[in-house]
Amino acid sequence: MDVAVWLHGLGLQQYEQAFRDNAIDAVILPELTSEDLRDLGVNLVGHRRKLLAAIAALSSGNAANPVAAAPVVERRLLTVMFCDLVGSTALSVRRDPEDLRDLIAAYHHAVAYVVKRFEGFVARYMGDGILIYFGYPRAHEDDAERASRCALEIVEAISGLKLAEVLQARIGIATGMVVVGGGASEHDVVGETPNLAARLQTLAEPNTVLIDENTRRLIGGLFEYRDLGQVEARGFVGTVLAWKILQPSTVTSRFEALRASSLTPLIGRNEEIELLLRRWQCAKKGEGQVVLLSGEPGIGKSRIAAVLAERLLGEPHYHLRYFCAPHHQSTALHPVITHLEHAAGFARDDSTAVKLDKLRRLFGEGRLGQLRRRVAYQAAQRSRGREQEAERLFLTLAGVRQALVADLLSLPTAGALPDNLSPQRKKEKTLEALLERLQDLSHKRPVLMVFEDVHWIDPTSRELLDLTIERIRQLPVLLIITFRPEFQEAWSGASHVSTLALNRLDANEGEALAEAVAGKSLPRAVVAHISSRTDGVPLFIEELTRTVIESGSLRDDRHQFILDRPLPALSIPPSLHASLLARLDRLGTIAKEVAQVGAAVGRDFSYALLAAVAQRSEPELRGALSLLVGAGLVFQRGILPDATFLFKHALVQDAAYSTLLRGPRQALHGEIAGALEARFSEAVETQPELLAQHYAEAGLVEKSIACWGKAGYRSTVRSAMAEAAAQFHRGLDQLALLPNTPERRRQELEFYSALGAALTTAKGYAAPEVGEAYARARELWDQLGSPSEFLHIPRGQSIYYALRGQFDLALRADEDLLRLSRQRNDRARLALAYTSSGRTLMFTGRLGLSRSHLEEALALYDAVSEGTLVDQAGTDPCVNAQAVLASVYLCLGYPDQALKRSKTAIADARRLGHQASLAVTLALSARLHLLLEDDDGTLGEHAGLLVAMSTEQSFAYWRAVGTIYDGWVRVKHGDVAEGIWMIRRGSTAYSATGATALVPFISDSCPEHMR
Ligand SMILES: Nc1ncnc2c1ncn2[C@@H]1O[C@H](COP(=O)(O)OP(=O)(O)OP(=O)(O)O)[C@@H](O)[C@H]1O
Ligand SMILES: [Mg+2]
Repeated sequence: MDVAVWLHGLGLQQYEQAFRDNAIDAVILPELTSEDLRDLGVNLVGHRRKLLAAIAALSSGNAANPVAAAPVVERRLLTVMFCDLVGSTALSVRRDPEDLRDLIAAYHHAVAYVVKRFEGFVARYMGDGILIYFGYPRAHEDDAERASRCALEIVEAISGLKLAEVLQARIGIATGMVVVGGGASEHDVVGETPNLAARLQTLAEPNTVLIDENTRRLIGGLFEYRDLGQVEARGFVGTVLAWKILQPSTVTSRFEALRASSLTPLIGRNEEIELLLRRWQCAKKGEGQVVLLSGEPGIGKSRIAAVLAERLLGEPHYHLRYFCAPHHQSTALHPVITHLEHAAGFARDDSTAVKLDKLRRLFGEGRLGQLRRRVAYQAAQRSRGREQEAERLFLTLAGVRQALVADLLSLPTAGALPDNLSPQRKKEKTLEALLERLQDLSHKRPVLMVFEDVHWIDPTSRELLDLTIERIRQLPVLLIITFRPEFQEAWSGASHVSTLALNRLDANEGEALAEAVAGKSLPRAVVAHISSRTDGVPLFIEELTRTVIESGSLRDDRHQFILDRPLPALSIPPSLHASLLARLDRLGTIAKEVAQVGAAVGRDFSYALLAAVAQRSEPELRGALSLLVGAGLVFQRGILPDATFLFKHALVQDAAYSTLLRGPRQALHGEIAGALEARFSEAVETQPELLAQHYAEAGLVEKSIACWGKAGYRSTVRSAMAEAAAQFHRGLDQLALLPNTPERRRQELEFYSALGAALTTAKGYAAPEVGEAYARARELWDQLGSPSEFLHIPRGQSIYYALRGQFDLALRADEDLLRLSRQRNDRARLALAYTSSGRTLMFTGRLGLSRSHLEEALALYDAVSEGTLVDQAGTDPCVNAQAVLASVYLCLGYPDQALKRSKTAIADARRLGHQASLAVTLALSARLHLLLEDDDGTLGEHAGLLVAMSTEQSFAYWRAVGTIYDGWVRVKHGDVAEGIWMIRRGSTAYSATGATALVPFISDSCPEHMR
């Protein structure tokens, strides 16, 4: 049982930390007494009673639905290490079996000890081979780094063992997706990663560590490597890339080691930089400043600190940098030690003497000069004899300080430190020496001091930081402290301390960052996908953009990337996987399980649906949700049981979802769909796509197809054409999973013809996708004996060809339509046929015939009552015929009738409330007024409306046309440059829809300025 969830379920989560600190687990919990609870800090009698009652319920087995400890089987990104002893066969020949057993035991013990320190997991001992996981059972954001550091330390630990034989190890490390748990042994892993780690191990020289490409990518510049290029790995197709890890690199900044290799220009953040610069100006005047820079991982804290340092490059100042690291949280003053080693310029092979000399120079530099100045100052006030005494004293003092620092850096101090110094006193004096150094430096030049990632700070550095903040009040020092939101700071009350919490980038900034990472412009669909998954977190944007580009879905076309097919479902960037999963793992099994169920429902999920699907008791659910909300992973809206929850990050949702295996995942989606249908009928009516999605994921293909169809038609009627097209596509994808029967083809025909209509509105009449959809629909239609209800398919082809200027093909399609609808005596379709041919004839200049076809169409429509074909044709045919007829009247010389027709068409479209039909009438009305050079304001009004409406509805074709007319109006009103720019932009957009028919008209009717 998860004690944290249990406490949250009782609404007593405030004791979670105390329970954790005192190692109260599920085994101890039932034993707790009132006395124990008091010791744990549960001081309120009411709380103690509540806890004791709940504990009693636990022991009597009355706890609602006690948590079954089912073995968890998951998909996880794991870093797997394989460690083997060199020459063990020879050893076994040489040694007595008992000695050998002792040797192996010592080796196992040494390895296990180091692995534990890095929070790895020894999965199995196989003779002298050891299989170790990092990222299981809990993920850490730095699992690959932990594994690498651990491996280097194992090599060192084993070769340093004082045994009868000198032992050596070979280590291989690989990272990849695996399924863990549920095998013959509880911690079995399935996937190629363990095999790769084992193979790399066999290729390693004694006492070396080999890593694969994935691990290498994750640990970036944190280590120094030898690139071994392609190596043969038995059992793997072809070769694999391998590196030998030499040692940790000397780069101390995690930002530089992991993220600075491919910096893109800084996007936004002007206000934040300005604030920091203002604080710098204050600090320079001697009013020391502290800025607490906080924000979630990847939001840009380190980047801002780096940008500020860049901006100050031209000014004389000291830049002191301190970095906390996740694996050094219990090394006292680790950030200070690495800072000093860097500042002094220690090299790896420096002897102690050289290091001491470098340290002396670091401290001596300016220090002696300063001492002399102070001594000289005192000399002015004292007698000559005492001046020497003062200097001796100061020098001794300087000596002690240096000795303390030398001691901190594990260098010999040659008796320079008093023998009787207690550890506490030594610590205080060391901190004082460090503060003195800061003070001395700041007297020479202003200091920019950056202390990074203090959520990982060790307690002594924290003390130093507390003292530093106090000390710099009157010093020219700007101290920037960065941390993530989980860190509880207690500094913000002071007057010289400001807080700066970094927010997400806005949509435009996010887009700019994605394009900067790509290096060229990206298709809209890709930008939309990236922004929907990354929520303005720069690191997420960078990594997801790289994943998209590396996925090979985009075609590189000189200045832009082009998407030739729908974007496939993309996995979470491996670089983010561990860090996202770590956030969930930290909360325990039940909270993660609830997150998984929530993630399967969607980005947001209601408590009611969760409770219907998750197999957990109410207290467990409440407890788990409270943990998730408390950790900032999900937001809560409303109060339980009516609350809904929203994943704060889409990628956290993806991470939770990605751990589910296929079987349980399908079952879960099936349950969600079932619960939706049974209990949430309103949601099913208003969002059939939701149900469709769950059925598809559950593998219930037929049900999913029916729901996709429903969703597509529902969107069409509401003019949400882009959504409709996507939904029909999804339906077609599902159909492809069924056997190729006449029923399937019939359903496909339905979807393709509806898709053609939806795409026409979303992408434009002459877009290649439209042509393809209708071509496929036509093929199926012909195969199935041209069923009457799909007679509008040739009509779709007709407009497609007409607008591409292929009038012969357009007329042929019209003739098919006329002939078949006459043959079948289908008046509705005959009306459609007349409208279509009327339009084509207008384009070819046969105006008289065009007019009579259109009038014929309208006469038939009257007879057809309300039976419009709007959801098949994409627009209302009657409205359409009227609008085209208006144009024909004008060409025939009847402007009044033209205007009248146009007005009626608009009024009819408005009455129907159908946006796509209204777009047609507005566009044709604007064209009419343009040709008439009618200056009553209607042209401007209709053009403006058309642009606004088609932008909102994503009607690509009509938006392009509207932009051209709008530009034309602006030119006429004297705004020539802007107007011409709009016409050009509109024309480019028009051609981009594949249409050509209006190009001569546009260039001919354009203002004289453009010609
Ligand atoms: N405004 C920005 N413009 C362009 N790139 C940015 C911006 N902010 C951050 N980045 C990039 O996003 C990535 C993550 O930023 P950074 O490392 O500074 O985040 P962080 O907040 O320090 O995260 P962590 O808590 O993990 O240290 C980096 O590659 C950085 O260069
Ligand atoms: Mg950082």
